[in-house]
Amino acid sequence: MPRSSKAPVVFITRRIPSEGIELLEEQGYTVKMYGKDQAITRSELLKQVKGVDALLPLLTDKIDEEVIQAAGPSLKIIANYAVGFDNIDLEAAKKYNLPVTNAPAPEVSESVAEHTITLMLALAHRIVESDTFARSGKYTGWSPSLLVGTDLRNKTLGIIGLGRIGYAVARRAVLGLGMRCLYNTPRRDSAFEKEVGGTFTSLDHLLQESDVISVHVPLLPSTRHLLSTDAFSLMKQTAFLVNTARGPIVDEKALLRALKTKRIAGAALDVFECEPAIDCDLKDRLSLAAFPNVILTPHTASGTIEARQAMGRLAAQNIIAVLSGRAPLTPAK
Ligand code: DGY
Repeated sequence: MPRSSKAPVVFITRRIPSEGIELLEEQGYTVKMYGKDQAITRSELLKQVKGVDALLPLLTDKIDEEVIQAAGPSLKIIANYAVGFDNIDLEAAKKYNLPVTNAPAPEVSESVAEHTITLMLALAHRIVESDTFARSGKYTGWSPSLLVGTDLRNKTLGIIGLGRIGYAVARRAVLGLGMRCLYNTPRRDSAFEKEVGGTFTSLDHLLQESDVISVHVPLLPSTRHLLSTDAFSLMKQTAFLVNTARGPIVDEKALLRALKTKRIAGAALDVFECEPAIDCDLKDRLSLAAFPNVILTPHTASGTIEARQAMGRLAAQNIIAVLSGRAPLTPAK
């Protein structure tokens, strides 16, 4: 489409990798982007969104009725640059008949799965502790008892939520690392069982039997604090918890207590309940960062160039589809 004053306007709330932007520009759309490389402020968002045809927000932007109203009747789609879409008020979008899409590109599942496996191995082999130890000059000679970890082979992985990411993690763990797999998800998946060999089970049984528990459910009212005191009390004392999904799925206070009382052996977190804060409340002076058996990464599980480009391409393709009168490719649901 040749550029004209009528070209649809797409607003991207922060710079994303180039490929998605190029796809939009190839259509002749006008791409407006928030100029600063930081999360857009609420007031700036409300200002910049006015009159746009498509909004491409990030997971850090709260998109609710106020934003939709600020955009006005020209807005035709909200295409989130994330797999998760808990930052978007779907009810409000529905009220205005606005399609909302997410970006579950296959590259994102693979990237998050690699990151999750990295965290599992790092916990079991005490990689971060070992690195800190070696750097600090404490290594004075080999010892049979120095920083002894545990192997993942023949251990049980509990996958909570067998969507694309949970599946990709389980496949690597079982076929690559020789782990067993238990999984809990709304419906039994016989194709998964055939390809990978996992066993469908209740959440309680999974928590009781797993050596590593990895969370892959979306954040919904029903999954908020899914793992709280009761869940930790069921876990093995030697269990590791990995969360690369959304922070509030794990009750951080309960996790801190479980770590402090050695109820579990460790945790690796890419997401946090009060993100971007690592700790919700430091009044009790207990920080997740104080535990050597906790590994923290700053919501970078999908932080590979392959995944980030794919997320941008898919968000752009969703916008192009809707602005061309077609159905969105990946509606958020
Ligand atoms: C997502 O896509 O939801 C991740 O959390 C960030 O890429």
